[in-house]
Parts: sequence; structure tokens; C-alpha cells
Amino acid sequence: MTSAPRSTAPQERDEHVGDGGAYRAVIERLSKASVDKHWEPYRDIPWDDPEFHVDPSDPRWELPGVDRLGGHPWYRAQPPEVRARIGLWRVATAMKIGLQFENLLKRGLLNYAYRLPNGSPEFRYVYHETIEEGHHGMMFQEFVNRTGMPIRGMPRPLSAVAQVAPWIPLISTELFFVFVLGGEDPIDHVQRRVLKDSRPHHPLEETIMRIHVAEEARHISFARHYLRNRVPRMPAHRRFLLGLFAPVVLGVMARIMLAPPGPMIRRFRIPASVVADVYLRDPDAGREVRDSVARTRALCAEIGLVNPVSRRVWKLMGIWADAAPSRPR
Ligand SMILES: [Fe+2]
Ligand SMILES: [Fe+2]
Repeated sequence: MTSAPRSTAPQERDEHVGDGGAYRAVIERLSKASVDKHWEPYRDIPWDDPEFHVDPSDPRWELPGVDRLGGHPWYRAQPPEVRARIGLWRVATAMKIGLQFENLLKRGLLNYAYRLPNGSPEFRYVYHETIEEGHHGMMFQEFVNRTGMPIRGMPRPLSAVAQVAPWIPLISTELFFVFVLGGEDPIDHVQRRVLKDSRPHHPLEETIMRIHVAEEARHISFARHYLRNRVPRMPAHRRFLLGLFAPVVLGVMARIMLAPPGPMIRRFRIPASVVADVYLRDPDAGREVRDSVARTRALCAEIGLVNPVSRRVWKLMGIWADAAPSRPR
């Protein structure tokens, strides 16, 4: 048994990978780290420990006052059990959408790995990542099952469109890794923010998030280094096209990851005016979407994917911020 991380793992640092040797060294380091530090949900999480039991009326599920919905007078006026159930519903929906995204991601990674030549360092790392994502899917689904709630993930039409994602590597591996960051960065952003706040969290939620953040740091690092290595060497016309597609993919993905769950709105009869206040009219709603892609936006600027034309697409998608740091974090 590997005990869950006691603190939130730091983000991986970006390294210069202009030459092939440095890039290869980063991938080999990430592969080795996957062997040295990884977790398995049915070995390392004490699901049946009474402390890990999921009780939907546990006040630890309540949304905090700083949350946009949690701070709304309508939410504050609900009885404590309803407040707790809404909070749990939202956590479980995020996990369900996360596991659906990671399902598409795994299939895409395997499509990418299928064509890799012998001796490619990416092959081994992509298999480590696929295995880790397999564990994440089981961990998230087990959590959803234990809530006893009828959690649905992505809305059905969106889920149908999303089935094209695993085939993106056949057209452009660079666009596929932009898609990967489009899903992984907003999840990581939200999980790190939750882990940083000073509220008491349910131990099961905290354990799952810590394990996830620790392993995702490597996945995000791989996608970033892949793009840092490949994009500057792409032919100019392909890089230009990627620059136009990237903000579309990132804008759509961030909204999928952060959108309010429709079934939750219906189940708890959250009034339309409250939904509009929280998710549309509140300027913080747009800021959260922009912030959740900040790291990827800075990366795109750094590797030459932002130009006056593509910047208009970023703005159109509502994910541009002028104060975006131009250096990697
Ligand atoms: Fe994951
Ligand atoms: Fe991941």
C-alpha cells in the first residue's frame, strides 16, 4: 500500500527542450517518476473505513461562502441537508465528467501510441499515463457510486460530438495535446484551489484529489513539453492553423469542465434567475474560465501560437486576458 500524498504535489517545472536530448531526458524522468510514485485506487484508498463513508447530508459537502453558488442568498436559505447534497452533487458531477474526458483521452493516447516507431521514448510514457488514467477512472466512478446519486456527466449531444476526440491524433498530434491540456488544466486548477482553501474536507474527497493532482502534474508536464518541442518546428501554415483551433478547443473544454450540471439545477429546482446570477451575470464566472486556461494560454503565447488573428479567436471564445503572463509557470 502506498499512502496518499499528505500535501498537494507541486506543479512540474517547464524545461527547455529545444534539442532532442533534453526532450528525451524529460520524458525518461517522467516515466521513471510514474514507476516511483503512483497509486492504485483499490489498494491505496481505504474505501470502507467508516471515516471515508459518504453521507450526502455531511456538512463538509456544503459549498463555501466564497463559491459563487455557495454565497448566493438562495443557496444560503436552503436547509443544511439540501446545501450539503448540492455540494456533493457538484463534486460527483465534476468526477463523472472528468472520467468521461479521461476515457476519450486514453483512447486518443492509444491511437497516438499505435503509430509510434520502435525506440520512441513517448511510447513508454504514454502507456504509463494511460494506466494512471485507468486508475483515475476507477477512482472517480467508485466515488460517484458511493454517493448513491443519479449523476450524469456530459450532456448527451456533447458526449456524442466528443467521440471524435480520440481520432484527433490521426490528423494532428499537436492539436490532440492541446485538447489534453484543455481538459486537464481546468480540472487541476479547480482541484488545487479546493485543496488550498482552509475548510475541512471530506477525507475521501481530499485523498482522491491529492492522488489525482500528483499524477496529473506529470501528464500536464508531458503535454506541455511535447508542444514546446514540436510546435516551434511545425511548418508555418500548420502552426497558423493550430493557433486558430487551439483557443476553440480550450474555450469549449474549459466550459464543459466548469459548467453547472443541468440535472442538479432540475433536481434541486434552482431558479433560473439564480443560475443566471451565478453562471452568466457574475463577472467572476468569466474570470474563472479565463483563469482555468491561464497556464495553457501562456504556453501557447510562448511557442508561437498567438498572433493578431488567433488572438481574436481567443477573445471570441472569452478566454483571453491581456495580463497573461508570457513566461511559463
Ligand atoms: Fe486523471
Ligand atoms: Fe491526466
